[in-house]
Amino acid sequence: MTKPLNIGVIGYGFMGRTHSNGYKRVNDFFPELKYRPVLKAACARSKEKIQEFADQWGYESIETDWKALIARPDIDAVDICVPNNLHKEIAIAAAKAGKMILCEKPLAINVPDAEEMTLAVEKAGVANTVWYNYRRVPAVTFAKQIIDSGRLGRIFHYRANFLQDWTINADLPQGGNALWRLDAAAAGSGVTGDLLSHCIDTAIWLNGKVTDVSAMTETFIKERVHTETGARQKVTIDDACAFLCHFENGSLGLFESTRYARGHKALYTLEINGEKMSLRWDLHDLHRLEVFDYQDEGPLRGWRSVHVTDNSGEHPYMDKWWVPGLQIGYEHTFVHQVADFLKSLEQGTPCSPTFRDALETEKVCDAVLASAKERCWKTV
Ligand SMILES: NC(=O)c1ccc[n+]([C@@H]2O[C@H](COP(=O)([O-])OP(=O)(O)OC[C@H]3O[C@@H](n4cnc5c(N)ncnc54)[C@H](O)[C@@H]3O)[C@@H](O)[C@H]2O)c1
Repeated sequence: MTKPLNIGVIGYGFMGRTHSNGYKRVNDFFPELKYRPVLKAACARSKEKIQEFADQWGYESIETDWKALIARPDIDAVDICVPNNLHKEIAIAAAKAGKMILCEKPLAINVPDAEEMTLAVEKAGVANTVWYNYRRVPAVTFAKQIIDSGRLGRIFHYRANFLQDWTINADLPQGGNALWRLDAAAAGSGVTGDLLSHCIDTAIWLNGKVTDVSAMTETFIKERVHTETGARQKVTIDDACAFLCHFENGSLGLFESTRYARGHKALYTLEINGEKMSLRWDLHDLHRLEVFDYQDEGPLRGWRSVHVTDNSGEHPYMDKWWVPGLQIGYEHTFVHQVADFLKSLEQGTPCSPTFRDALETEKVCDAVLASAKERCWKTV
């Protein structure tokens, strides 16, 4: 017998859908789990739209005010899938109400807010996690296992990119439902909080703490019409950001993100170079981990491409899916995070990244933005 865990999701957009899919699929593929998510309530401001979403995905009820959702005694866990500026108020209220919280990334729009949220969940003692889902791509989790085994030796370099091209059009407005990412009031920042936060979370997880940063940002289109006011307004998000950093382990980091790399839609790549081994991963080929092992026999030495689909238990998560050689995709990372969250409830352990883990990423993001603004190195 599984124990129901009543979910209340706030937001029905991109992430509302990926998470709902995760809740619905998880027990089919992780039958050993003791908890079973129940799609109890979905919430958004438009009654018509949230009802349509609830009907499509099978939510039992709807709310049009997130405060009403949080007040419901039949909700165990609140899932925050709304623009970044709303995370703080909802998370703190949910913590005070004793709800478990699954919050989308970035945790908040700045460090003070993220700190307040972290203290709130810790004070309330509620289970919490932040959806930095790329940790749960099997090839990335596998990279973590290889790095933790020490096989890379001393680490020299870590580099990551997250490239898109969807805001090149100068006529694209800012703000409002679909375009809140271009409005600093809703998003907090541009590519730094939206895309580099993913790269930073993975980097800290794989390679340890970032100590200091030197960054540059650019806003290529200076003014855009605001969807809500209709007025041409200054654009205050960063369209592009690149930064250098030091890690606590002595290695050097190089990060770049932009929404102006024509031809790239969501190219997240990472590479780590150690004394004995290098690893490379690319979201467009997400089931593959590129490995260079200097310990290979000289004449045979070269980059190999490991298809991370073995189901014998050696490749993380893959024993839950199909047969070796058959890959999985983006949506599965959310199923994995739900599974790990439910497992953590059974075991009474934290589900990483917790709010406190995500606060660390927030600190790097704020240091990056401050460094770019002041044109100097910043300590994290
Ligand atoms: N983990 C990832 O890879 C990933 C990917 C995309 C987005 N995100 C994050 O997820 C969050 C949501 O992004 P999205 O792409 O799903 O956005 P979206 O624009 O697709 O959806 C946002 C949702 O929030 C709802 N909303 C807005 N204000 C609200 C309010 N006051 N009360 C209730 N609902 C409200 C909207 O109706 C909409 O359903 C953001 O924090 C974003 O950074 C994470």
